Amino acid sequence: MENFIYHNPTELIFGKGQIVHLKDKVDKYGKNVLLVYGGGSIKKTGLYDKILSLLGEKGAKVSELSGVEPNPRLSTVNKGISLCKSEKIDWILAVGGGSVIDAAKAVAVGAVYEGDVWDFYTRKAVPQNALPLGTVLTLAATGSEMNRGSVITNWETQQKHGGSTTFPSFSILDPENTFSVPKDQTIYGICDMMSHVFEQYFSHTPNIPLQTRIAESILLTVIENAEKAIENPHDYDARANLMYSATMALNGTLPVGVVTDWATHSIEHAVSAVYDIPHGGGLAIIFPNWMKYVYKENVDRFKRFAIQVWGVDPAGKSDDEIAQEGIAKTSEFFKRIGAPTRLADYKIGDEKIEEMAQKAVPFGPIGNFKKLQAEDVAEILRMSL
Ligand code: NZQ
Ligand code: ZN
Repeated sequence: MENFIYHNPTELIFGKGQIVHLKDKVDKYGKNVLLVYGGGSIKKTGLYDKILSLLGEKGAKVSELSGVEPNPRLSTVNKGISLCKSEKIDWILAVGGGSVIDAAKAVAVGAVYEGDVWDFYTRKAVPQNALPLGTVLTLAATGSEMNRGSVITNWETQQKHGGSTTFPSFSILDPENTFSVPKDQTIYGICDMMSHVFEQYFSHTPNIPLQTRIAESILLTVIENAEKAIENPHDYDARANLMYSATMALNGTLPVGVVTDWATHSIEHAVSAVYDIPHGGGLAIIFPNWMKYVYKENVDRFKRFAIQVWGVDPAGKSDDEIAQEGIAKTSEFFKRIGAPTRLADYKIGDEKIEEMAQKAVPFGPIGNFKKLQAEDVAEILRMSL
């Protein structure tokens, strides 16, 4: 195991009716609140009214940044930063999925920075400060509610980059707020949370049984609950288990002491930067092909994955066959739950493969399980067509 320091300051407030805790937050962080949300799902579900009423009871003055896009854009973030300055915002409340939370994180660090917030995404600067940020999560997927990552798209330059920004001070996770998530977004969320585990599970670091078993537990929990939530969107327990799994998959528990990979995320971000496809859909397509491309680097790890996660029976099979069966089971699962399986499902052909491959490696080779250069990425994308 590698050395590590683990610190996660986000207060997680989980369960039915926990939204009432918002009122304490006005006392704690101040009355001038910037409410950040997306394209309006929170108005349809009534969550918007509930939140305004709770904040109103405490005499909060609420400004709004609405219309945050899936794959949130830098132009929207800059609008939020201007609002923070003109309205003298005390703290930010993000209500939505990963896109809304990521945009709000960018606003939180950008509002107290003299330079261009994009510097934090191009590795020109590291945030030193941020406005306090709270979140009310409405979609189980990214884990953004309990990490400091933020992924923003600069549509002018067609670049989608992740930056290390700021942890939410608190996140309210009521599984009932995910009942209204449409089927396709539920599926994408499942693919995303599983992919986060894959990125941290496929590692060469030896002697990490605890991290390995926690990762497998998360995957098994997601697999057990995925179809229940897709078939019955109001299944509280299935939604709750998916929600907590998504948070645990990317809140810093899994990578401690482990050399993690993250190449597939870089590849997906390059595809989304050019074609603006849903993140989880892109991952469902690319991940099995990354697995096929790299598994020979550590067949034992893939063998373990096949047996522990997919229940592959090893009897009479070579290690290579077991590993390959685990990869096939991963593809079958994504297909069974209704995820896209080929880039062609998004009408993506081979025209921009080289461009996407270059965009996937903006700071040099990616991944640790196998270091990938642009030509490796191009090959994985061709396998995904
Ligand atoms: O915009 P609204 O109207 O709210 O609708 C959204 C959006 O259209 C809708 N939705 C969300 N909650 C809903 C709902 N519809 C009905 N009922 C609800 N309760 O779902 C659509 C997608 O939302 P989005 O926030 O884009 O989805 P997700 O949570 O999957 O976030 C994806 C973004 O997060 C980034 C991705 O790259 C992508 O930009 N990621 C962020 C990470 C992080 N910060 O740690 C890590 C991830 O790997 C990922 O890269
Ligand atoms: Zn992801």
